[in-house]
Amino acid sequence: MSVPSPAAVVVLAAGEGTRMKSKTPKVLHELSGRSLVGHVVAAARELAPRHLVVVVGHASEQVTAHLSAGDTPVRTAYQAEQNGTGHAVRMGLEELDGTVDGTVIVVCGDTPLLSGETLSALAATHAADANAVTVLTAEVPDSTGYGRIVRDAGGAVTEIVEHKDATVAQRAIREINSGVFAFDGRLLSDALGKVRTDNSQGEEYLTDVLSILREAGHRVGASVAADHREILGINNRLQLAEARRLLNERLLERAMLAGVTVVDPASTQIDVTVTYERDAVVHPGTQLLGSTHLAEDAEVGPNTRLTDTVVHAGARVDNTVADGAEVGPGASVGPFAYLRPGTRLGAKAKAGTYVEMKNATIGEGTKVPHLSYVGDATIGDHTNIGAASVFVNYDGVAKHHTTIGSHCRTGSDNMFVAPVTVGDGVYTAAGSVITKDVPAGSLAVARGQQRNIEGWVARKRPGSAAAQAAAAAIEEAGGES
Ligand code: UD1
Ligand code: MG
Repeated sequence: MSVPSPAAVVVLAAGEGTRMKSKTPKVLHELSGRSLVGHVVAAARELAPRHLVVVVGHASEQVTAHLSAGDTPVRTAYQAEQNGTGHAVRMGLEELDGTVDGTVIVVCGDTPLLSGETLSALAATHAADANAVTVLTAEVPDSTGYGRIVRDAGGAVTEIVEHKDATVAQRAIREINSGVFAFDGRLLSDALGKVRTDNSQGEEYLTDVLSILREAGHRVGASVAADHREILGINNRLQLAEARRLLNERLLERAMLAGVTVVDPASTQIDVTVTYERDAVVHPGTQLLGSTHLAEDAEVGPNTRLTDTVVHAGARVDNTVADGAEVGPGASVGPFAYLRPGTRLGAKAKAGTYVEMKNATIGEGTKVPHLSYVGDATIGDHTNIGAASVFVNYDGVAKHHTTIGSHCRTGSDNMFVAPVTVGDGVYTAAGSVITKDVPAGSLAVARGQQRNIEGWVARKRPGSAAAQAAAAAIEEAGGES
């Protein structure tokens, strides 16, 4: 069923969230790559409302700054004192010039699992039943802390009673208020003016609007969420962990149904912003974060953390930490590599074991296989960098760039002291400290000459095990050393 977009969505996010015991405002706590309020805003946007406003109050500067960052800043309303959810909605509507014609959806900023589909379904029920208010409810195993849905003998909703105000009998009710409502905008404004504060918390409860409208003869409805886990409200860190687990499961399910093999979902973590293609494989102990993308047949993990990293088709990334890197098609990374921002590995390139790279472009088929640091560098195609090489990019003041050509064979234990340029087809000797540019096709040797001082051990360490071993070897060779 297609439902017209609501006139407004109001997100309540002014509370401190005392039960989090945190210096961070509750709605800014993170799970699966977004803040709590960020998840709610994303779900709200799926409805394409005419207006979207987030009510902020506690730590409002911090929350507002968070909401104005990014491509599509969110409008905020200010609630100076947290006088309750009803008061918060009033502040939201004031920001929208008082009264809104049409449907107003109210959501709490602390229900990050709520999906856009569930919000649409609520809006659809609200419209189909021509209600003044429709509340999203759920049957939960443990209703402690939530507002209870009170129904009459005929099953019609009569009121919502907060946990703190509920009688023992009401506390036994397992159907709870999710905190999500669809309202007729005009009726909402009128009813909010009538909400009183004679309750255990001395607050204006949004939930009272329901009974006020009902008593005035308006249609009041409830829509029961298919999955109660979706409306989990985060009030403490246990609930935060539970929400994180549930959302992660949901996101991994989506990835698996799209053709990604997740070897061990329980030890795999994925952000909501991660994308993938079919036949990607994720091994245990892997975190896929930010804008990370896994292309077809990419294989990552085990024990790998990829942040904002693109792994192209058929590439292999093993036991690696990568941030802001791009791994070319068929390239190979690790085990035990660290790719930092600006690393670009070409097709079939390799960053091997105990290799760190930063701001480095590595050409097609080029290999940096062992124990090396490559920083601020450009390396051409089909070059091999010897084991234990360091791109010496920092002179203590500024960073400098190293350029190495294509089809080079650099020796082990080389230092490339930047700025320096090594031409195409160059060989360098092991142990070289390259401080001067090397012309194409040269062999560069930059190390001390070897001297052998014969008989030194016999003279300086007479009688030692080394001297005896040497004497035996010399005798066996016929007296020649
Ligand atoms: C609220 C509901 C409860 C429901 C539960 C669902 C009320 C009175 N109670 O209780 O029926 O079962 O959510 O999770 O509505 N907020 C403001 N300004 C305020 C007070 C709260 O913006 O003055 C915001 C908070 O930041 C939060 C949301 O409203 O995002 C809900 O507030 P919270 O204190 O968590 O209410 P609950 O006790 O969970
Ligand atoms: Mg809450």
